[in-house]
Amino acid sequence: MPDTLTNPVAEKPVLTRSSFGQDFQWGVATAAYQIEGAHSAAGKGKSIWDVFSAKRGKVRKRHNGNTACDFFNRFPDDLQLMQAMGIPNFRFSLSWSRLLPQGTGEVNQAGLDYYDRLIDHCLELGITPWVTLYHWDLPQELERRGGWTNRDILGWFEEYTALCAHRFGDRVKHWMVLNEPMVFTGAGYFLGVHAPGRRGFGSFIPAVHHAALCQATGGRVLKDILPKAEVGTTFSCSHVEPLRQQEKDIQAAIRVDALLNRLFLEPALGLGYPLDDLKFMRRIEKYMKPGDEEVLKHTFDFIGIQNYTREVVKYAFWTPFIQANLVPAKKRGVPYTRMNWEVYPEGIYHLLHKYSAYSGIPKLIITENGAAFADEVYQGQVHDPLRVDFLQRYLQQVLHAKQEGVNVQGYFVWSFVDNFEWAEGYDPRFGLVHVDFDTQKRTIKSSGYWFQQFLKESRK
Ligand code: BGC
Repeated sequence: MPDTLTNPVAEKPVLTRSSFGQDFQWGVATAAYQIEGAHSAAGKGKSIWDVFSAKRGKVRKRHNGNTACDFFNRFPDDLQLMQAMGIPNFRFSLSWSRLLPQGTGEVNQAGLDYYDRLIDHCLELGITPWVTLYHWDLPQELERRGGWTNRDILGWFEEYTALCAHRFGDRVKHWMVLNEPMVFTGAGYFLGVHAPGRRGFGSFIPAVHHAALCQATGGRVLKDILPKAEVGTTFSCSHVEPLRQQEKDIQAAIRVDALLNRLFLEPALGLGYPLDDLKFMRRIEKYMKPGDEEVLKHTFDFIGIQNYTREVVKYAFWTPFIQANLVPAKKRGVPYTRMNWEVYPEGIYHLLHKYSAYSGIPKLIITENGAAFADEVYQGQVHDPLRVDFLQRYLQQVLHAKQEGVNVQGYFVWSFVDNFEWAEGYDPRFGLVHVDFDTQKRTIKSSGYWFQQFLKESRK
């Protein structure tokens, strides 16, 4: 990397909406299971998160998404709030088991109707829908048949994708295939801390391969049916650094970077899995069928970058396979959020440069960025200056990278409303809008007002 890139905060560009350009897309992001609730209403089948969260000891305080933000029933009011905040783009996901209760076969008419109404309502209010096909809530019936470890998922996913494209593609012009495949395979099939709670290499490796195949296949199916649509997919990305400038830590950081930031992207770009840096994953070749290299490839119209933090890595002889440990922010004495994730705005700058250096990525969009704090309502207001500061500082870095020529064309805050934060339950609050989960009352936080002002001011 040239020297000029090593001090990204040296010159601070003025942070206004217009400095990002007229065409830059601004929005907020959510996911079905985290906000919808209505988990068993209107013909919906069970998803792996319904089952996982019902088990003891899986989600903190035994929280679940049964009601969540009740968005299923309250979306007209929530969209009105979004419009009042001047937010032009809304990213949400479709619940596979609401549309196909068994994952495949019979279609649930009430599910189709619900998403029709949601999409139509967005459009009536002048809000552009950005739809994610898969944000982690696999139909339980498919999990019973092996879930992501069963290669049949290619057919199931194709069927689901085609259904969504045919039904909603006349109105939805922006699509994302998968949300963060590294997280749902790693946390769900290797560590067992997310649904479906499976552990070990025997589950993880096939899940990775099948998710990577579905990622590209989903992209192709959407493009075949909707040639004019903008089709992307999203990745969880964290800037990775070695703890010490010592060979062992440097090599450990290379392995962690390959796992977190390259594993799913590179096969789509035709580069194959980064197995030179992930030797322990070589057994993935066992699951490759003739022609799979081709199936894994797809040129997406955009790549969605989802960034929250950075990872600092040290060599760890005893950690199986990867022989690396992440050094927690707390131990390093750096600022961190309610998720214990370091606040490190420069990371997003480095990532944007990293991804823009790949050929075959037409453009980048930040499809998620945000921070969790333990926000509270006090005298009818929620004061969250730390989130305002976080968003401003990350955006500074996005703008800086853009001004240096990185083709980044959008930014979505995670999240619109506080919601079900997976295994962490409802305590970490990521929203621009506070939700009282007892009463479902919404309160715009100071970060929400800041975003509203930012979007408005610079429109002049
Ligand atoms: C996911 C979201 C999640 C957020 C904060 C991303 O990994 O896409 O579903 O809530 O990060 O953890």
